[in-house]
Amino acid sequence: MKAAAIESMTSLNRRSGDKAGAISIRNTSLTFGKVPVLRDVDLDIRKGEFLSILGPSGCGKSTLLRLILGLLSPDPGGEIVHHAKRDEIGIVFQKPVLMPWLTAIQNIELPLGIGPLSVLSKKEKREKALHALELVGLTDFRGHFPQQLSGGMQQRISIARALAANPSVLLMDEPFGALDELTREKLNMELLRLWENPNTGLNTVVMVTHSIQESVLMSDRIVIMSPRPAKVDAIVEVPLHHPRNPEMEEQPVFFNTVKEIRKRVKEL
Ligand SMILES: Nc1ncnc2c1ncn2[C@@H]1O[C@H](COP(=O)(O)OP(=O)(O)O)[C@@H](O)[C@H]1O
Ligand SMILES: [Mg+2]
Repeated sequence: MKAAAIESMTSLNRRSGDKAGAISIRNTSLTFGKVPVLRDVDLDIRKGEFLSILGPSGCGKSTLLRLILGLLSPDPGGEIVHHAKRDEIGIVFQKPVLMPWLTAIQNIELPLGIGPLSVLSKKEKREKALHALELVGLTDFRGHFPQQLSGGMQQRISIARALAANPSVLLMDEPFGALDELTREKLNMELLRLWENPNTGLNTVVMVTHSIQESVLMSDRIVIMSPRPAKVDAIVEVPLHHPRNPEMEEQPVFFNTVKEIRKRVKEL
């Protein structure tokens, strides 16, 4: 076996080979008024994995992320156990929510002013923000305002903003859904490289997506949610090794997995 192959297997073991839990969602239901949105969701998110969530529109995927973040509480009887500190969770939304009157670097620094990192000095915040900008390859655009940047660049700023606080868990809610196909593909790979990069501290990624292809290319496991009131319908393990690359989309194992998921989604 070639050294590179051995190294990539070792890095796989470091990431997802250990089955320790990052977040456990137990028996979790959520009702808005009289509308049941989630019913008895049970899911163990493993430390170090890249997990995607697929499901019909309106089934409760964003609601589930908000529960994980602690912005909502489950109905009585449900429980969400965090095996790490809650403030180690970052989030990226579908649309980059950037302040138009702040520059790229100022947008990244903004959340560092609240929460546990607010004790940092101005200089330390700037250093963290610059490091995050560098990770997404936008150092030269630090002084640009959001409207001077493309959609893809704005979403990279949002990712940098989430990374600046050095989260171990990153939740992403259809982060690339609003982007064109080519930009999306590029950002998919950038995100994977960030997740693989030991210098980021980023360990676990949970990504909601509409794209079956994207979920297969990116993830270790794919959670398929049933229609509302949603529960976990199936969990599919993706039999592709890491590091992933776009050429893997040509492999039979790739489209067999896509086919299997498509079939399950149709039967929902
Ligand atoms: N704050 C809220 N109050 C009432 N209903 C809500 C609220 N947020 C979401 N919903 C409803 O909950 C359901 C699930 O929404 P959501 O989690 O956004 O779905 P998804 O992200 O899977 O498309 C939808 O029917 C939506 O209308
Ligand atoms: Mg949603």
